[in-house]
This record gives sequence, C-alpha cells and structure tokens, in this order.
Amino acid sequence: MLRRRDFLACAAAATALPALPGPARAQAPMPKLPSGFIWGASTSAYQIEGAVKADGRAPSIWDTFSHTPGRIADGTNGDIACDHYNRYAADVDLMADAGFRAYRFSIAWPRVIPQGTGPVNAAGLDFYDRLVDRLLQRGIAPMACLYHWDLPQALQDRGGWHNRDIANWFADYARAAVARLGDRVRPWAMLNEPSVHAIFGHGFGNHAPGLTGWASYVTAQHHQNLAQGTGIAAIRAERRDLALGTVFSLQPIYPASNTPQDVAAAGRFDACWNTINLDPLFHGRYPAEFERYFAPLTAANDMATIRVPVDFLGVNYYGPSYIKHDPGAFLAQAGYGAVPPGTPRTLLGWPIEANGLVKVLARLRDHYGNPPVYVTENGACYEDPAPTGGVVQDPERVAYIREHLEACATAIRQGCALNGYFVWSLLDNFEWAEGERRRFGVVRVDFDTLERTPKASLQFLSGLMRAQPASAAP
Ligand code: FCB
Repeated sequence: MLRRRDFLACAAAATALPALPGPARAQAPMPKLPSGFIWGASTSAYQIEGAVKADGRAPSIWDTFSHTPGRIADGTNGDIACDHYNRYAADVDLMADAGFRAYRFSIAWPRVIPQGTGPVNAAGLDFYDRLVDRLLQRGIAPMACLYHWDLPQALQDRGGWHNRDIANWFADYARAAVARLGDRVRPWAMLNEPSVHAIFGHGFGNHAPGLTGWASYVTAQHHQNLAQGTGIAAIRAERRDLALGTVFSLQPIYPASNTPQDVAAAGRFDACWNTINLDPLFHGRYPAEFERYFAPLTAANDMATIRVPVDFLGVNYYGPSYIKHDPGAFLAQAGYGAVPPGTPRTLLGWPIEANGLVKVLARLRDHYGNPPVYVTENGACYEDPAPTGGVVQDPERVAYIREHLEACATAIRQGCALNGYFVWSLLDNFEWAEGERRRFGVVRVDFDTLERTPKASLQFLSGLMRAQPASAAP
C-alpha cells in the first residue's frame, strides 16, 4: 500500500507561495478534496523531452513513426517538442511555484538502454537523476512511469511487443532504472495504457509502430500484460520498500444505439479497452469471450505472473466512448459510433462526462477490490486563444478540470480509494498522431520560441492546491 505520508515526505519543506492573480481563481464552486489528497501534473518523455539524439539516446518507434510522411496530422515530430530535456529545471520551478506537490513523468527506455537490451547508458540516466533531484529540492514528489509508448526501435526490429522475450527485456530495463533512481523515487508505474497502445499502435495502426489487425493487437496486449508482471516481480525481488503499480485508461463504454447489435458490440469493446487490462491483473484471467484468442499465447505460468498485487493503480480518464456494431472493424467488429446529439465535447470530439469518472472508480471499488488509485491523467484539448496580459484564457479547460475534480470528491465520498489527481498535462506537447496542433497543457508552449505561458487552468489549480494543501496530509 502506498502511504501518502511517504509519498509526500519530500513535499514537507515546501515554502509559502505567493497568490497568483487571474479571473479563474474566483470561479466557484471549488471542489473539496480531503486533506492529504495528492495534487500532481503528468507528462510523458517523447511528448516533451526533445533532444532525441542527446547523450547516447537511440531512436524509438515514435521517432520512426513521426518521421514517416503522412503519419502525423500537422507533419511535426518530437525532435524538439518542448525541449524539456534542456529546460527541465525551469519547468520544475514553474510547477513548484504553482503549488504542485507531485509529478508523474515517464522514463525513455531508449535513453537508458539505447538498443533496448545490453549496455545501460549512464548519460541517459543522468538526465532523470538531475530531474529527480530538482523535483525533490522544490518539494515535488516524483512518480516515474517506465513505459509511455516509446519502445527502442532496435527492439521493434526484433519484433517489439510481438516478441515474447520482451517481458524479460522490460524487466532488465526496469531493474536498471530502479537501481539508479529508486533511492529517491518511491512510486513506480510499469506501463501507460497498455490497451490503448495495443489498440492504436498494433491494431488500428494510427500510432507507432503502425501495425494493424486483430492478431497483432492481441499479441501486443498479452505481452504488455506479461511485461507488467515481470517488471513488478523484478523490482520487488530487490526492493520491498517501493510502491509499484501500473496505469490503465478506463472509460465507460456505451452502445451508440439500443439495438442488440450495438449493445453487444459495446460489451466487446469494453472487454478490449477495460477488462483486458483489469481482469488479468486483478483476477488472473482474460474476459471469457476472448480467452480463446489469448490461449495460444499464454504459457503455463503467465497468468500467475500477471496477477500480482499492486500498491496502486493509475487511472487515466478523459470521457466515455459510444460504440456500434461494425462488421469491418478489426476490434471484434466493434467501432466508434455517433455521440448522442447535445453531448458536450472537446476539440478532439471526445465526449465529456465527468460522472463517467465516478463510474469507473466505482467499478474498481465493486469488482476489483477497491485498490488505492490515483487519477494519473485527466484533462482536455481546446483551441486556446493567444495570451493576453501574460495569461492564456482557457475557460472550457477550467470547467472540465473543475467538473472532474468534483467527480473525484464524489467518488471519495462513495468509498472509492482515490488518493490523488494528476492533470494532463503540465505543458502543451507533441500530442502523438495529432502533432503539436492539439493542446492539452495548463501551461502554453509556443513551439517556435519554446516560451512557456500560464493558462487560467493553471491558476485555477493553483488556487485549489493552496486552499487544500497536500502537506496537511495525515
Ligand atoms: C492519453 C495518453 C497521453 C495523452 C493523452 C491525451 O491516452 O496517455 O499521452 O496523449 O491521452
């Protein structure tokens, strides 16, 4: 069990912070989260770091993919991104000044073991060393995620997530990262959203590595589940004092209509998006309707390897999906259907339903033993106006975050073991296949000058974090 006190220990030295001006602070109501609730921001390596050739880093599948013409909507790539690799200190200061007390970042496997297996690149780990030290100096507790989709290209060339050996490759990488940073980083997440990586990267093919089809998807899903288990086991064998978990994207899946076909398709989609992660980890089995596809991939001890106790579960929540029966869809004949008219949506078209977060957390409470949870991602993409007076006014994002924080408070009142909230994302960044044109940050990044400008959503969070300081934890 991840103890809040330990997680926050490094935040105790936080200094008093000046109040930020801004109209968003006046917005009511302010969601009431319990004292001890952890406030954080979330990012991922390829989306912000840039410096793709620095200090021995080798290419990842996302370097290859983003440099393939036609793959990224606006033709951008992560070569520079937010240049966080060089600007991390200022970015940490920005977070600390706003009042964040936790930060979830991901470690780039191709910086740490550039060829995926073999020699560890000390210079690559040095970056995370510097980052972690800076976070701790500024009273921010680090949470490291080991894999946020940036597989070393060298491993893709050996089959990537289709090669069963990846479970051991991942365990070796996990050990190397923990050996260097485990003295200062306590919570470790293994994977980010394995079902999303399997579905988009290995099924639809609109994310790296661009593979398609059902068999490809199923194989990538199973080997990620397995690697999650071997990673946890490898770290636990050496360290009992760390908090180990993983991060799933969870969402309510609704049928696009009441027809029996759509209702059944929504059930299958739910299995592929949600339970294909949850059931193996918490119950040691695949959803019954898909067991036959996983059986040929599953060796004798695999389910025991995957079903391990976790100290926490990270939940990424954005909104629900509406699903229809679609005979042509690779994913169990289930495809995206129309969103009901009148449903509020973000710029990406994603439906907004804050109560869906309550539903997702209640599902964990009722069917998966109510594990300790962090919302490790939540946020929204909107068309932001140009800054005025040094601030970007993003009232829709403020409203989105406020509603979802209210949902967090509701879920806690209803007995869900929710311990914290990490906004996605600290910075506008390289948003995968959308490129730089789609912004999720609470801080604006000008991709020409790399200048950072606060948004009203940062000021809103800042006001909340100061009003309900996590350092008052039990
Ligand atoms: C999540 C990803 C994250 C970001 C957000 C918008 O699925 O984990 O990297 O792209 O969506």
